[in-house]
Formats: sequence, structure tokens, C-alpha cells
Amino acid sequence: MDEPIVVGIDIGTTKTCTLVARVEGERSLRILGVGIEPSQGIRKGTVVDLTAATQSVARSIEKAERSSGLEITSALVSLAGSHVSSVNSRGVVGISGRVIDGDDVARALEAAQAVAIPHNREVIHVIQRGFVIDGQDGIRMPIGMHGYRLEVEAHIITAAQSTVENLRQCVSSSGVEVSQFVLNPLASAEVVLSETERQMGAVVCDIGGGTTDLAIYIDGDVWHTMVLAVGGNHITSDIAHGLRLPVSQAEDVKKQYGNAIEGEVGEDEFFSVRTFSEEKPMQVSRKELAHIIEARVEEIFLLVLQEIKRSGYDGLLPAGMVLTGGSSLLPGIRTLASNVLGVPVRIARPENLVGLTDQLGSPAYSTSVGLLYWALLMNEAGPLVGGGSHGKGAPVDLTNIKEWLKRLLP
Ligand SMILES: Nc1ncnc2c1ncn2[C@@H]1O[C@H](COP(=O)(O)OP(=O)(O)OP(=O)(O)O)[C@@H](O)[C@H]1O
Ligand SMILES: [Mg+2]
Repeated sequence: MDEPIVVGIDIGTTKTCTLVARVEGERSLRILGVGIEPSQGIRKGTVVDLTAATQSVARSIEKAERSSGLEITSALVSLAGSHVSSVNSRGVVGISGRVIDGDDVARALEAAQAVAIPHNREVIHVIQRGFVIDGQDGIRMPIGMHGYRLEVEAHIITAAQSTVENLRQCVSSSGVEVSQFVLNPLASAEVVLSETERQMGAVVCDIGGGTTDLAIYIDGDVWHTMVLAVGGNHITSDIAHGLRLPVSQAEDVKKQYGNAIEGEVGEDEFFSVRTFSEEKPMQVSRKELAHIIEARVEEIFLLVLQEIKRSGYDGLLPAGMVLTGGSSLLPGIRTLASNVLGVPVRIARPENLVGLTDQLGSPAYSTSVGLLYWALLMNEAGPLVGGGSHGKGAPVDLTNIKEWLKRLLP
């Protein structure tokens, strides 16, 4: 058991999923522990009831500990919500004609971070998008090259400090340290995006219960990220209002009979459901249901389109959209997305998993599994699981640029 253990806690709006995995080989993971619990006290990706959220996180962690037989002391944790924002920034440093080393790159990234970041915001990720040496752009790996002036283009993701702190507290109440927060779509992308898509230009769209998370990848790097505060729960609530059903029933009806395209459903298709007002079950047309769903899903994709256009990268995504998250299970959603966005769309889920993987092959678990791959990417050498002879995993802090670079650069 000398291979490193990685742990991810995906705190979603509808479910919290803790996964424990052992790193086997270079990019291979064996899932050892799974703890899936309905989330409480989380709305649109953020904590609204600390006690309730802490309890559901604790239950999820306990389950994962029980199924893996390991004690969790440290984990990567997913982050989303409309409090997250991102900016692209440039950092410039002088080199004076010598060979560029890791410290210079770190200084340039630090300079990029010097953009006005308000005190109440925490830097979550600083992602390098490319380097410019003496005006020559498109440089991927500046270390070892000569130059006088090194510029880095960075994508900086920040989040509201108070919201991040609440989430940290939910996890630390269970005695687990957050080694790093990872933005939802970046975790999902590690699982669903192929190398070709990443290079060609594609957008990852994870539609969960309370959020729609976007990440645009071009030339192999993240160029833009965005979290929208809409998701499957809004579809459910539209159905509850439209058909006068309790929310739990609307949720069942959506999953069982829903379709995102009204035109795909026949006039003569009905299902029976007991509404608030009626004693006896009522017959509802599936077309009517699809009509309600289509309106909301179309609106979500129009918002997505608006965001992609606002980023300015709309012309640079020939590989189109990779759709994931629990709501991507809705029949017809791929076609609707493709119609609204005018790009090819495919639906993706975690694949080729080894170990305790029964429930994890659904698009709902892309972020959860992605956290583990993110941990791999960060080359988490220290054990994240304590107990026995294992110590506590060394915390990884992305704001600590030098450490981060050591992990990312060869
Ligand atoms: N078969 C299905 N058809 C339609 N929607 C579905 C289906 N299965 C799950 N969903 C929806 O997926 C959503 C949950 O997805 P997911 O588990 O990805 O969300 P989450 O991670 O908890 O939330 P978020 O990431 O938004 O904070 C719910 O709104 C649920 O109704
Ligand atoms: Mg999610």
C-alpha cells in the first residue's frame, strides 16, 4: 500500500460525493471508497445552512471511510456558485538576457496576480495560458530559453472569501483538511474532455442541480471559466408550478417522463400523477411536460451562449460542447443544446473506472471523479489519508505559486 491515496469531496447542490482512490500507475485510479449522500443546506452551489450542510458532508465522508477502511484527513473539494469569477491577466518580469528558470516563471505569475483582487476574495486557481518572451508569443514552456522580458498570460479564478470559508468549515468539522478547492468545471473537464477536444477548442458544460458550470479550453489550456446559478432544480420547480405538483413528485416525473424537445413527444402520450388538488390521479400529457422543460432548458443554453459570446472565444470552439452533469441525462438535451448553440454537442460521463464504480458511471459524477484526476495532475505525492503509519497529506495551496509550479512543471 505504498501508492498514494487521493480523496475528493464533491459538494453539489443535490448530492455530496466523497471518493477515495489509490493511484495505480501513471493515470490510473482504483476507487476504494464511495460515500454518496443527498446534500442539505446547499443552494446553487453555496452553503445556505451551515449545520445541515456540515451534517450531510460528514455522512458522506463517514460512508467513504467505512467503505474504504481508511481514515480521511485531507481532500480536494469542489467549488461552484455565482460568487466565483475569473479574469485574464498578464504578468511581466525582466530577465536581463540569461536563461529563464522556474523562479522567473513564478515571479511572472505572481505579477499577473497583482491585478486588483479585492480583499474579500480568495484566489482559487492561477492558470498559465501561455508565455511571451521579448514580444514572441505562443511559447508554452519558457524554462531554459533566453530572453530579456518574460510575460505570462494567466487565468485567475477567485471566489468570495466568506463562501469559501463556510465550505471549508463544513469539511473541517469532520476533521478533514481542504488541501485545495477545485472549480467544478475544471474537475469535470479532467474526466470528460479528450486531448483532441482540448487542443482544438471546446467548451465543457456541467449542468447539475443548482449550477451550470462552463470551462473553455483552447490550445490545450483553460481560457475561460464561468459558473451560472441555474440547473436541473429550476426545471423541476417549473414542472412543480406548471403541473401543480409537490417538488419531489415533479422531480420523479421529470426523470421518468421528461424530454427537452416538445416535438419529439407524441400527442397521444400521457402519464398519470396525483396533483395537489385532485383526490384521484390525473392524466398529464407528456407533450405538456416537454413544453415546460424545453422552455427552461432553452433558456439555460441561451445563457450559456451569451456567456460564450461574452468571452470572445465563440469562434474558436470547433470541437463544440461536451455536456455532462446529472441534467445531461434528460432525453433530447443534446439536440436542443446543439440547436441553440450551433455547434456539435456530445454527452460524456466518467469511463474506464476500476474498483467500487457501480454508481459512478453517470454524468452526475464527472466532477466527483474529476477531483481525483485533478489530484493526480497535481502529482499529489503526499498521502491524503491518515491513520496507521500514514501522516497528514501536505496541503497544496494554489496561491503558493512556487509550490504549484514545482508540481505542474517537469
Ligand atoms: N434522468 C434524469 N433526467 C433529467 N434530469 C436528471 C436525471 N437524473 C438526474 N437529473 C437531474 O440532475 C440534477 C443533479 O445533477 P448533479 O448530481 O450533477 O448535481 P449536483 O452536483 O448535486 O449539483 P451542482 O453541481 O449544480 O451543485 C438534478 O436536478 C436532477 O433532477
Ligand atoms: Mg455538481
